[in-house]
Amino acid sequence: QLRDNTVIVVFGASGDLAKKKTYPALFGLYCNGYLPRDVHIVGYARTKMDDKEYQKRTTAYIKNPNDDPEIAAKIEEFKKISTYVSGGYEDSPSFQNLAKHLQSIEKNYPSREANRLFYLALPPSVFVPVATHTKECCYSSMGINRIIVEKPFGKDLDSCRELLSSLKQSWKEEETYRIDHYLGKEMVKNLLVLRFANVALGAAAWDKNSISNVQISFKEPFGTQGRGGYFDEFGIIRDVLQNHLLQVLSILTMERPVSFSSEDIRDEKVKVLRAIPPITKEDVLLGQYVAGNNEPGYLDDDTVPKDSVCPTFAATVLRINNERWEGVPFILKAGKALNEAKVEIRMQFKDVTQGIFKNISRNELVIRIQPSEAVYLKLNSKTPGYSFRAFPTEMDLTYKRRFTDTKIPEAYEALILDALKGDHSNFVRDDELDVAWKIFTPILHWIDGRAGPRPRPSPYPYGSRGPKELDSFIEKQGLVNKDALQQLAHDEP
Ligand code: BG6
Repeated sequence: QLRDNTVIVVFGASGDLAKKKTYPALFGLYCNGYLPRDVHIVGYARTKMDDKEYQKRTTAYIKNPNDDPEIAAKIEEFKKISTYVSGGYEDSPSFQNLAKHLQSIEKNYPSREANRLFYLALPPSVFVPVATHTKECCYSSMGINRIIVEKPFGKDLDSCRELLSSLKQSWKEEETYRIDHYLGKEMVKNLLVLRFANVALGAAAWDKNSISNVQISFKEPFGTQGRGGYFDEFGIIRDVLQNHLLQVLSILTMERPVSFSSEDIRDEKVKVLRAIPPITKEDVLLGQYVAGNNEPGYLDDDTVPKDSVCPTFAATVLRINNERWEGVPFILKAGKALNEAKVEIRMQFKDVTQGIFKNISRNELVIRIQPSEAVYLKLNSKTPGYSFRAFPTEMDLTYKRRFTDTKIPEAYEALILDALKGDHSNFVRDDELDVAWKIFTPILHWIDGRAGPRPRPSPYPYGSRGPKELDSFIEKQGLVNKDALQQLAHDEP
């Protein structure tokens, strides 16, 4: 349920994340009538600016390509419910000042109830002071308080535990919403339905008896432009694999939850993650992009140290040691500056029993998370007509074609709405984080050079498919790409 009398406070309101993601998402919800009645949005950051300047900045990324007057009017309304307070992140008086501002808004509410949602769109260095001061100075005693935190949640197991325990001193687990925005994506949410509402897809075929291997891949066609300084400290494994791709993997492979309540779902996710042993260095391929296709290399970015060996590409193989998945390789790969923008899951089925068919394609279920959401199953069918040849074709559910009138919400819209409603299902629980870091920490320490010299990533040109070693790395896992046309062993009649 949405609560009336709610103020949403966005910390880091002048930053990139707030401008590009948080405010457009808040506007999307506002525009579609999904924010609580009488909602107010308060931006908070260090930058000094007046409300006008703040409203201009926070609406700069809201799209209205056709100058639709209705949307333009909504933007003006949205500005009216947004105000700004500037202040530091580490001193109490600034937060007391913010508290006064909140009270001045809430005194106009029809009842005394006052609910507050705090959104931390901030760098990790100030998570703890902001969370602590907010609790001390801005916690509402007359309603519900919730805090949304963005990644990165630490850099390895120890730092994550430290961060978790510092935040827990002021905020309870049930008040905390840790965002992994991949959990707000339509296709990631659809995994639960695809798996557990279909015998044909989920229950019957989802295990080591039917599946040969699974690939979850993230490809971006641009480099770290402008974010090199941040990125170099983290690398692609911390940026994408340890969180976004591992979250997808856990939903894809967990057992059926007892119910769709958030704790039941997260219990199952934790269980399957606990069955994954830490990744070893033999199971990793690292890459770093160099100049190519008239685009600069990673090291050409001024904010990146000239001798950086930070990986911008990584492929890793994970195993799940349980009865359902034993022996199936799960390949997680992610890279910046590749040849296309695509995030997808590919589940490749085993070969059909040999004998009557030669060279027949494997079935493959593809779930495309973005762009253009789709689920399609590659299967073999008889060539229509007189021929008795088998050929590979697809059963295709492409959203754009099937659901022509449906608007798919942005991930951030879906997640902020969940947090307003108090639904934790699509947020990361503390024990999920702990086990996720356990899987990746040894390999990250190796990459960081804690166990000897830092490994050198293989170079790949900007705009390419990734390091040249990728194909052999994947083939080693038994993934077969038979694109050749299929043929019946018996010739056509
Ligand atoms: C972020 C990463 O979490 O996800 C970025 O820090 C990455 O490096 C982004 O570009 C990808 O998100 P999306 O929604 O564009 O796939």
